[in-house]
Amino acid sequence: MMKLIAPSILSANLIILEQEIKAVEAAGADWIHIDVMDGHFVPNMTYGPVIVNVLRKLTQLPLDVHLMVDNPDVIVPLFVAEGADCISVHIEACTHAHRMLQWIKDQKCQAGIALNPATPLSSIEWVIEMVDYVVVMSVNPGFAGQHFIPNTLEKIRLLRKMILDKGLSTRIQVDGGVNPKTIQSVAQAGADIMVAGSAIFGSSNYAETIHSFRKLMRDNYETI
Ligand code: DX5
Ligand code: ZN
Repeated sequence: MMKLIAPSILSANLIILEQEIKAVEAAGADWIHIDVMDGHFVPNMTYGPVIVNVLRKLTQLPLDVHLMVDNPDVIVPLFVAEGADCISVHIEACTHAHRMLQWIKDQKCQAGIALNPATPLSSIEWVIEMVDYVVVMSVNPGFAGQHFIPNTLEKIRLLRKMILDKGLSTRIQVDGGVNPKTIQSVAQAGADIMVAGSAIFGSSNYAETIHSFRKLMRDNYETI
């Protein structure tokens, strides 16, 4: 499956958001990752649905909304209404994950289920068939620029096996601490969608960074 790169605008310079979005689009980004934080589920706050409204006017790229919020059932429809293409909710925040994911699918959005680092894969066993992608958090959510948690690699491998065993084509998104040092092993473990915030927006040349990511992932393909 094609590997995708999704820059997280959490690390973008909001003063020049339009330039930042156009720059990563020109540099070859596949999705735009939008981190929504409510100050309850995670100890930080970001933006609401208005950011999707703005970004929808700036880019054709799929808008991937990562909802780090409690009560996602109240929040999800607001993001769908503004034109989100892909929406992930956390399994830890969903009382009725099955209903929530089905609703997202019914709106013709891609549905993702996200897991915090301490959350076992067994928690998504009965909903994995409904989702387009699983978000494996490789840092504790809330902030950009944290260190990749090493045992995530084993979690990705086990998830890849779970997906294969069930005969599914679910994508694996990895979020947190993805950078030139970690991306090769993340790809090798079986991830498809690489979210990167600080490693892209903190670099001086987005095209070079994204190109080097693709090279690292491709090199890695050839060695499998
Ligand atoms: C963490 C967010 C991530 C974050 C990744 O709470 O979900 O998407 O922006 O940032 P980096 O790539 O800097 O770890
Ligand atoms: Zn995220």
